[in-house]
Amino acid sequence: MIELNRVYNENCIETMARMPEDFVDMTVTSPPYDDLRDYNGYHFPVEDIAAGLFRVTKPGGVVIWVVGDRTVKGSESLSSFEHAFRFREAGFRVHDTMIYAKNNPIPSDCGKRYRQCFEYMFCFSKGQPKTFNPITQKIKQEKAFKSFRITKVGRNDLAHDHIAPKERKLNNIFFYNVGTSSSKDKVAFDHPAIFPEKLVEDQIHTWTDEGDLVYDCFMGSGTTAKIAHLQKRRWIGSEISEEYVKIATERLSQYIDAHNFSAAR
Ligand SMILES: C[S@@+](CC[C@H](N)C(=O)[O-])C[C@H]1O[C@@H](n2cnc3c(N)ncnc32)[C@H](O)[C@@H]1O
Repeated sequence: MIELNRVYNENCIETMARMPEDFVDMTVTSPPYDDLRDYNGYHFPVEDIAAGLFRVTKPGGVVIWVVGDRTVKGSESLSSFEHAFRFREAGFRVHDTMIYAKNNPIPSDCGKRYRQCFEYMFCFSKGQPKTFNPITQKIKQEKAFKSFRITKVGRNDLAHDHIAPKERKLNNIFFYNVGTSSSKDKVAFDHPAIFPEKLVEDQIHTWTDEGDLVYDCFMGSGTTAKIAHLQKRRWIGSEISEEYVKIATERLSQYIDAHNFSAAR
């Protein structure tokens, strides 16, 4: 069986095999796509991982899959959409395709195209999501406006004025700082591709409640574990590289008692 609040230093396929069916409320993760960076040379079979995640996700649970594309010989790989199709074949719904936009993308020479500044943030769900705690924003204009309906003969004002709500759900494009302003944990930057902490905070808040179980199958520097812990969720992580598990362990020791998360192999 499996212990909670642990980073497992192994292939995530092995960690998922330890889990019973319908076990995890939410997975938030970023795969090592397109060999964009050399994560110590590890690769991953997306079909097997999608099938594993479908098995261990509770009905109504979600997988937040953050992924971009590499440009190969001038053409985008579309790995992001390949992954979405594989998740759908595994049984998930594609509930939402959100965008993670970077306020301060790493400068790069992108040829005859605009500067690349976003990744996809797919929400794959096992049926209709069971939890949704939307983040809202205040609306400036609070005055009443006329409600209307467009009919064949034009605009038809409805009898009652509609009072605009004072808040509305955020749009599904999320802007985050990347790089050193995305976490204050210096050790995390020994990993080449960490999540902005705010991204993980927002997603965990949205799709889970306190006490729920959050999984990250590619734990890297431990961002998901840190934020899940701070948001009073339980968590499990897999990370295949021993070097990165050491980084995650050092990082998490600032927030969690050491005996609570020691990595297993
Ligand atoms: C994009 S990074 C994740 C970074 C993480 N989100 C963070 O905030 O630090 C992907 C990670 O997946 C790990 N990895 C690659 N294949 C794996 C596998 N099959 N099982 C578990 N981890 C794997 C890599 O070593 C790398 O650390």
